[in-house]
Amino acid sequence: MNKVFVTRQIPDIGLELLARECQLDVWPGELPPSRAELIEHIQPADGLLCLLSDRIDEEILQHAPSLKVISNYAVGFDNIDVAAATRRGIPVGNTPGVLTHATADFAFALLMAAARRVPEADRSVRAGQWKTWGPKTLLGADLYQATLGLIGFGRIGQAVAQRARGFDMRVLVYDPSFNPSDLPAGVQSVALDVLLSQSDFISLHVPLTPQTHHLINARAFEQMKPTAILVNTARGAVVDTAALYHALKSGQIASAALDVTDPEPLPADHPLLGLENLVIAPHIASASTATRDKMAVMAAENLLAGLNQQPLPNCVNP
Ligand code: DGY
Repeated sequence: MNKVFVTRQIPDIGLELLARECQLDVWPGELPPSRAELIEHIQPADGLLCLLSDRIDEEILQHAPSLKVISNYAVGFDNIDVAAATRRGIPVGNTPGVLTHATADFAFALLMAAARRVPEADRSVRAGQWKTWGPKTLLGADLYQATLGLIGFGRIGQAVAQRARGFDMRVLVYDPSFNPSDLPAGVQSVALDVLLSQSDFISLHVPLTPQTHHLINARAFEQMKPTAILVNTARGAVVDTAALYHALKSGQIASAALDVTDPEPLPADHPLLGLENLVIAPHIASASTATRDKMAVMAAENLLAGLNQQPLPNCVNP
């Protein structure tokens, strides 16, 4: 029987699929295994099912002489050195598609929470600050007919654009890899500086690559409106955290809503967490029960295909 190391307790539906055909070693902790623990557990493994918080690089792969397949329980795969895996003939799988709508929903939830200052309102009521109805209490921004800038127009960016239609928003898109003639009606492709300077809301939907690392930096914040709201459900390092802190603290932009950060998680004493104009969540955009189950099935199917020397249903190697 093939031996498989699963680096966290994924939903049962995925583990049950794997258990039919494999000998499972499931990491019991809530926290990721340390490097040393990862090395110890990957050593005898034929298959690895890992999470975005497990860094699978050259060093780890050197300790995995029998490894035939890596399956990431995520659509993003910046945690894996895919080139190093490819050099060893190891296919790498991911979970695209099944989390598109859950993630787009959450991007919109963050956008609305920041626009209408929902977490601030909640904090103020709990702190006993609700004395009466106030004409100027917690004023926010309208979504209706506002301009939404989408950086990245893949599956998730497109699903966010669909939702924006319900608010009659003007949608601008920056995505050099998207063919402008395929844009849906009502969506306009623009240069990055146009998107940054004209958008009321800017939502990030790009993978983390050398090209997108710190795409949103001090220069980008300088171009945004002082009323702009930034939403990040992509990857933390697409945004320069120090520049974001400065932009929020100085009022260069109005607020930000983050599901992802750099570093992740943020330390409890991180200066960003002291800002009122920040809405933050612990990387849960795909965290609906049904979506996480679908991801577990997809990750298990990728893994089983690799162990059986079949093409992975979703393979990211070039
Ligand atoms: C992913 O899949 O890449 C998300 O960040 C977590 O679901």
